[in-house]
Amino acid sequence: MNPNAQTFRWWESGIVYQIYPRSFLDSSGDGIGDLAGIRQKLDYLQWLGVDAVWISPIYPSPMADFGYDVSDYTDIDAIFGSLLDFDTLLADVHARGMKLLLDYVPNHTSDRHPWFIEAKSSRSSAKRDWYIWRDAAPDGGPPNNWRSNFGGAAWTWDKATGQYFYHAFLKEQPDLNWRNVAVQQAMLDVLRFWLNRGVDGFRVDVMHHLAKDRQYRDNPPNPDFRPGMSPYRELLTTHSVDLPEVHEIVALMRAVVDEYDDRMLVGEIYLPLERLMAYYGASGEGAHLPFNFQLLRLPWDAKGVATVVERYEALLPSYAWPNWVLGNHDKPRIATRIGAAQARVAAMLLLTLRGTPTMYYGDEIGMHDVPIAPDQVRDPFEKNVPGLGLGRDPVRTPMQWTGGDGAGFTTGLPWLPLADDFTANNVAVLRDQPNSILSLYHRLIELRRAEPALSVGAFAALPVSDNVMAYMRKAGDRRLLIVLNFAAHACGFDLSMLEAQAEVLLSTHLDRHQEQLGDNLQLRGDEGVIIELR
Ligand code: NOJ
Repeated sequence: MNPNAQTFRWWESGIVYQIYPRSFLDSSGDGIGDLAGIRQKLDYLQWLGVDAVWISPIYPSPMADFGYDVSDYTDIDAIFGSLLDFDTLLADVHARGMKLLLDYVPNHTSDRHPWFIEAKSSRSSAKRDWYIWRDAAPDGGPPNNWRSNFGGAAWTWDKATGQYFYHAFLKEQPDLNWRNVAVQQAMLDVLRFWLNRGVDGFRVDVMHHLAKDRQYRDNPPNPDFRPGMSPYRELLTTHSVDLPEVHEIVALMRAVVDEYDDRMLVGEIYLPLERLMAYYGASGEGAHLPFNFQLLRLPWDAKGVATVVERYEALLPSYAWPNWVLGNHDKPRIATRIGAAQARVAAMLLLTLRGTPTMYYGDEIGMHDVPIAPDQVRDPFEKNVPGLGLGRDPVRTPMQWTGGDGAGFTTGLPWLPLADDFTANNVAVLRDQPNSILSLYHRLIELRRAEPALSVGAFAALPVSDNVMAYMRKAGDRRLLIVLNFAAHACGFDLSMLEAQAEVLLSTHLDRHQEQLGDNLQLRGDEGVIIELR
């Protein structure tokens, strides 16, 4: 491997930062974040050191699923601003040498999209076949047993035309029929619209959902289902998700992106690693990066994490570039899942593994899940399937910029409540604290940018012990050793077998710079270190 970062593409060597636009910065005072708000914070993102920003959907939407129900793919919702605001933001992002990714939602539209309105106007409508319509079962019920991800049946009866339509998510999000060539063309043109405007790529929503069984066979029961899980998981998704034909659709998207220079696709795919790999395409004609969500779900212990990292590395096709994700707008925040102390270890892991890291806004200041009172619930998932802890509002609360009114997020009433600790945990305060998690993120990113060994170097696992995971990153002669303590108590690590001089470059505690090490490294509880070997 060539150790020179210059020869790698930006989405390989760079760091992606996800913005949930409703919650980043509200410049208008309506309590909801917007594009002008994001623009005001580009200085911050540049200071933090990220390379690319992915913005969750900003298109016109009735907001049944907060933008993942798109009613016009080629405009901006007035809540967020205008196309002019978007162009200005994009120009400013580019002027800083950064990249911008949009969220592309191809699996379903809003039920208010003109295409669906036309499709449901009559059985003979020209757009009828753009969606998935089926007759009722003989008993009048839905055509099969498929479930909606958000609870209940995935089929809704349309009384006027006497058929059911399919929706993998809300009934307000009817699935498009990607087997229809006109749908393919219209949706690929959406990509071109934004690529022509200059966007650098797309995060593709539920990529694995795009093809469904032609015969609409029932899904089998899931033998691993346990009470307390989402009702969606009572069935396997054998016939509704991850069908072989999906890869043909992804290849169509990839071909469009490849019409342009240096653009990319990252696919949202929740599948086991073995199945995930197929989304790179049999010979690289799939997504540039199929999201690797392993760190979002794994039990947090050294052996478990080390095993998955090695398995992922081993499964990757030769032409595939890895990636890692620590948080997103659908899953519990890392600080809540593993605690504030281990969240620092997780930051070091994310930013020293081989592969493009994706950060979720606010994780860099240690934001945690915010409890949402029943009368404050906004997320349709929580409303449909209450009480199981599936709701996503807690991870979407406003970014904490300052300790002042509205956390510096809004001058109005925030659309979701602020965390109760925002006066202490916010960007303004933590930026000035030399030992804060924000300072740690800043330093880790700075180091990753400066060290090709970390951003693009080779990866080699070292033997794992009960609590300590260790691995090497290497570029040219430069060798960096990362040692992470997953326990709250002190642990030792034997350096003698490495037969090298060892010096600490960075500790998660931010207090061991340039320390020369002997044969035995002592790690404090919840400490990770990056060590230079010479
Ligand atoms: C995945 C998105 O991340 C999630 O937020 C959304 O609700 C569903 N797809 C449906 O679009």
